Amino acid sequence: MSQENASLSSTPFSTQATGTRPLRIALFGFGTVGSSVARILVESRPEGLELTHVFNRNVDRKRVEWTPTGVVWSEDADAVLASDVDVIVELAGGLDPAGTWVRHALEAGKSVVTANKKLIAYHGVELERLAAAKGGHLKYGAAVAGGIPVIPGIEQGLAGDRIERMQGILNGTCNFILSKMETGAEYANVLATAQAKGYAEADPTEDVGGFDARAKLAILMRLALRVIVDPEEIVPQPITAVTAVDFSYAHDLGCTIRQVARAEDVRGTVAATVGPMLVDKNSPLAWSRGTENMVILTGRYGGDVVFSGHGAGGHPTAVAVVSDLLALAHGSRRVAIPSLPAKIGAEFEVPHYIRFFVKDRPGIVAEITGALAREQINIRAIVQKPGYPADRLPFVVTVEPCKTSALKRALASISQMDCLLEHPLDLQMLE
Ligand SMILES: NC(=O)c1ccc[n+]([C@@H]2O[C@H](COP(=O)([O-])OP(=O)(O)OC[C@H]3O[C@@H](n4cnc5c(N)ncnc54)[C@H](OP(=O)(O)O)[C@@H]3O)[C@@H](O)[C@H]2O)c1
Repeated sequence: MSQENASLSSTPFSTQATGTRPLRIALFGFGTVGSSVARILVESRPEGLELTHVFNRNVDRKRVEWTPTGVVWSEDADAVLASDVDVIVELAGGLDPAGTWVRHALEAGKSVVTANKKLIAYHGVELERLAAAKGGHLKYGAAVAGGIPVIPGIEQGLAGDRIERMQGILNGTCNFILSKMETGAEYANVLATAQAKGYAEADPTEDVGGFDARAKLAILMRLALRVIVDPEEIVPQPITAVTAVDFSYAHDLGCTIRQVARAEDVRGTVAATVGPMLVDKNSPLAWSRGTENMVILTGRYGGDVVFSGHGAGGHPTAVAVVSDLLALAHGSRRVAIPSLPAKIGAEFEVPHYIRFFVKDRPGIVAEITGALAREQINIRAIVQKPGYPADRLPFVVTVEPCKTSALKRALASISQMDCLLEHPLDLQMLE
């Protein structure tokens, strides 16, 4: 949230559970999460909340018999927005028309709860300003890490600290793929399984390319590092270049590989990146398997705090949505954390794992080490496992902590070597 609206947004919601009537709730989108939210509202009857409307296109095919008879099923978004509902729960996804509905609701002074990370990552600041100006609220606890309360955890539980570093496994699809590859499976086969199980889209680019994780990282950076980030400034590295060979080498180095979204603020210089990274087998990041998510926040005063659990799925995500609704109904005041626009870099100083595929010939190691030495980069280890063919030989060089930019220059020079069969794979090593 910007400094400008920090104070405005602390206005409590006017219609509370303690008032004369419960909050009237309209669900926009009755898919995986929307139907789970309805299920919880109907089965658990949380105090102060009443489901009154469900909006979806072609709504007749969505109707279920277990909602109260008074619920209005509609395919007319404008009519629902113009009704007397207090809160729009946007669970359709995407930037538009979801963004248009959210703006109309906030303009009308209604509150909005959403799980839409894309909308919040790209337009969250503007929408929070609008909510504050019109006397409503915008809550999005489900937008990052689904059912894991990392957003309320930062806003309430960690507001008293100064978060300086965050590392997260924020994409369940990538975690499923990489944790399966850890057991010996090939990328293409695991992706096919993930698609068959509904964990990955037919076009998996958003997930495996790192775009989904960077949107979530941008949201967390605003809340935790207090910087307003354009997600496009974070350049993601896809997981698609990681092979079974890399897991084998990582294993020998006492590590595994996970897609990690990380950001840090070192004396006012903010850096962020998303990509596959080597994580120590003893690190909590290595514990998360399948579609689980994990976020580790490091505070100046409180040290490390770890959040983990189910980062996706209808019911876990719906829990976060209903918790946001209850917070509104009970008038709980959000801790307003001011944030400011910041230029985001990608310069980290960490050790790296670099894997080469070469056509073997004498002098290769000397040329690579020479290029690294010219950038003052110290080698930690050179590892070559036996059993691979000389015409496609994989080997790995690990280097001591060095600046990302220096390594990039060294790799640009190494990439000119005639023996290289493909661009070297460079992964950060988290220690
Ligand atoms: N699923 C998860 O595990 C999860 C976790 C965290 C966050 N989220 C977020 O939660 C939101 C909802 O996700 P979901 O998994 O529930 O998606 P979903 O299963 O695809 O449900 C979306 C629902 O919205 C409806 N819808 C979409 N566009 C519409 C339009 N233009 N007009 C009217 N109705 C429209 C869809 O109708 P049709 O059936 O006609 O397509 C569908 O019923 C997304 O923002 C997502 O990123 C999801």
